[in-house]
Amino acid sequence: MKVSVIGTGYVGLVTGTCLAETGNDVLCIDINEEKVKQMQEGLVPIYEPHLDVLFQRNIKANRLSFSTSLKEGLEHGDIIFLALPTPEDEDGSADLSYVLGAAKDIGRLITDYKVIIDKSTVPVGTAEKVTEVISKETNVKFDVVSNPEFLREGFAVDDFLKPERIVIGSSSEKAIALMQKLYKPFVRSGNPVIVMDEKSAELTKYAANSFLATKITFMNEIANFCEKVGADVDKVRAGIGTDSRIGKRFLFPGIGYGGSCFPKDVKALYKSGKEVGYNFDILDSVIRVNETQKKILIPRIERYFNNDISGKTFAIWGLAFKPETDDIREAPALYIIEELLNRGAKIQVFDPEAMPNVERRFGDKIVYSLNKNEATKGADALIVCTEWSLFRTPDFEKLKANLKQSVIFDGRNLYDLEDMRKEGFYYSSIGRK
Ligand code: UDX
Repeated sequence: MKVSVIGTGYVGLVTGTCLAETGNDVLCIDINEEKVKQMQEGLVPIYEPHLDVLFQRNIKANRLSFSTSLKEGLEHGDIIFLALPTPEDEDGSADLSYVLGAAKDIGRLITDYKVIIDKSTVPVGTAEKVTEVISKETNVKFDVVSNPEFLREGFAVDDFLKPERIVIGSSSEKAIALMQKLYKPFVRSGNPVIVMDEKSAELTKYAANSFLATKITFMNEIANFCEKVGADVDKVRAGIGTDSRIGKRFLFPGIGYGGSCFPKDVKALYKSGKEVGYNFDILDSVIRVNETQKKILIPRIERYFNNDISGKTFAIWGLAFKPETDDIREAPALYIIEELLNRGAKIQVFDPEAMPNVERRFGDKIVYSLNKNEATKGADALIVCTEWSLFRTPDFEKLKANLKQSVIFDGRNLYDLEDMRKEGFYYSSIGRK
């Protein structure tokens, strides 16, 4: 099938590449000329495991190409994916200017029937708006489909190739049939393609992300309570996670959720509620609890150092909002760095992928280390912010020799409490004694 993808951010690139992998002829469009040039040379502009191999293979096979011309995109594809950003507006709602701007251009350029797919996370009613905007410009027939993505950064290729479900929101038989054909190779295992109306599909994405953010936040509160009463959240997690109604996943407490999706989507759903006079009390709490949770280590650090951390040096392991990504959007580590700098502390960081992004933000205000050991040299304490695998089994002897004091503040519960006691560390983690 002939497919065009408008927008080569993380969602657009993964979508385009994976659709090419199953034999479709895919053209990806982006307005950024430099980026398009790079991609034409085979360079993947983001860090996402396994994407590069598929990307280069499909370029070589002439199934994946790039252009800056939306006109070319419309001439090429029978199916047009909109994978454009929907950033957070000042008031927390989703900014639709990119999506509606592209819709207007599509309306001007369209010459024959197309299926236009909203892949971006968009508020309920966006498919309707896109249809309106295009219809104002043309009489040519087209259908708009809502087809939300459920890709996790770091696992996006796998999630796309082996989805647990595909959601298609459309009221057009023709568009539904085309979408089912396009996705058939990805659901051979029997996972469902769930067809529904456009609005329900749009809400499915927000409901999924808000539910998961709520699940994590609930566990963060249970963890905070565990500390007050002397319980161990690891035990509680195991105890409740074995109930299949609750499930084991997304029960890991920590220093809050971050990333490009959860924070933005929870706020946008809350805002959508307000717009129709519905107050999502639960989401209001989730947003507030998560803001506090991101900084939960700060008072502990202050207490340990008798409220004087000015001039103290902190090693930070992990900057990305989660492992296997270089993405630092809404990463808890950034909030911690900010708070510590405000208190006059010095900071030495290490992250396997995210350091260039952090350097763009903090410049020479902090020290960027070549590896995890270097970051700890001469530091008063180690703070763990992201659970990269390489932080899970450190050489504790080396760590003790490097640190001025054997102190770890662990925002991701990486180490065993008993091991920490044996090694002689002062060890503060989340929801454990
Ligand atoms: C999420 C959704 O999982 C995905 O379906 C959607 O399409 C985009 O948003 P992503 O943002 O890549 O994906 O990351 P995810 O793995 O879901 O983690 C989100 C945040 O929650 C991270 O900050 C992570 O550290 C945190 N988290 C996750 C926890 O704190 N505890 C957990 O148990 C799980």
